[in-house]
Amino acid sequence: MIAASVDDVRLGLAEHGYLADDGLATAVFLALTLHRPLLLEGEAGVGKTEVAKTLSRWTGGELLRVQCYEGIDVAQAVYEWDYSRQLLHLRAAELRPADADHVEDELFSERFLVRRPLLRAIDHRQTVAPVLLVDEVDRADDEFEAFLLEILSDYSVTVPELGTFHADVPPVVVITSNRTRDVHDALKRRCLYHWVEHPDLEREVAIVRLRAPEVVEALARQVAAAVESMREMELYKPPGVAETIDWAQALAALGRDGLDEQTADVTLGSVLKYREDQARVRFHGLAPLVEAAHGR
Ligand SMILES: Nc1ncnc2c1ncn2[C@@H]1O[C@H](COP(=O)(O)OP(=O)(O)O)[C@@H](O)[C@H]1O
Ligand SMILES: [Mg+2]
Repeated sequence: MIAASVDDVRLGLAEHGYLADDGLATAVFLALTLHRPLLLEGEAGVGKTEVAKTLSRWTGGELLRVQCYEGIDVAQAVYEWDYSRQLLHLRAAELRPADADHVEDELFSERFLVRRPLLRAIDHRQTVAPVLLVDEVDRADDEFEAFLLEILSDYSVTVPELGTFHADVPPVVVITSNRTRDVHDALKRRCLYHWVEHPDLEREVAIVRLRAPEVVEALARQVAAAVESMREMELYKPPGVAETIDWAQALAALGRDGLDEQTADVTLGSVLKYREDQARVRFHGLAPLVEAAHGR
């Protein structure tokens, strides 16, 4: 077992670049220990996807990623038959009539099976369990979710022509959702659930320092504080942790060791990617934003 305690998880993730709070570290520990999929929900940019990537770096398990989108289906996520190669094989077989009896069996053999991430996660044949990331499941439709539930309920996949693949060592499963719609209860029931919040100020400062060591402490703190205030302004797209890091890096690249109004103004595009959001923040006033950030 990789983690004997919640503290092990916190440390393991931290050593690989992810600073988790108690709630998240506990959820990850339980997911690893109970072999249950972990459903992480939260706003964009709070650090959901990064949990799976970090778990893969830490455990050494291969990262298998399914990026969900509207219309994603079995062929993209689980498996499909390599139609063009099957056709070539069929043509070749036609030239050898003696083999005709076997052709159909051969066509639907592993040779022509294209394995997509979900099947690879189940039939992985590795000693270290892979990390299966089903990213942004809220973008997929109901059918796909039903499918996912079926696979995750007993960690097996059935390919009608071949039989059932079963994971002896189940993959570590992380499912994320930005909650553009609700995930179905049945899938939620199968998973451990954790709502990921934006990090608090101290954690966000620590994340910036970890990810962008060139940013001095004072600048990291002022940037994190200013971003925290922006998140209260009911923006169309509140800045995530990645934007905090980007902004701090931009300011450091300009040689700043603290946040000032004029530089904040010209670098606002590093942290706010919508014109309306920039307008709103300017309307609230950059001077008071910067001033308040200096007091944190
Ligand atoms: N707790 C954290 N520790 C370290 N880095 C983090 C943390 N949370 C977020 N990040 C950083 O923020 C970036 C965006 O996070 P991401 O996982 O893509 O967000 P989400 O999937 O929730 O939209 C990551 O690439 C990572 O650099
Ligand atoms: Mg994500």
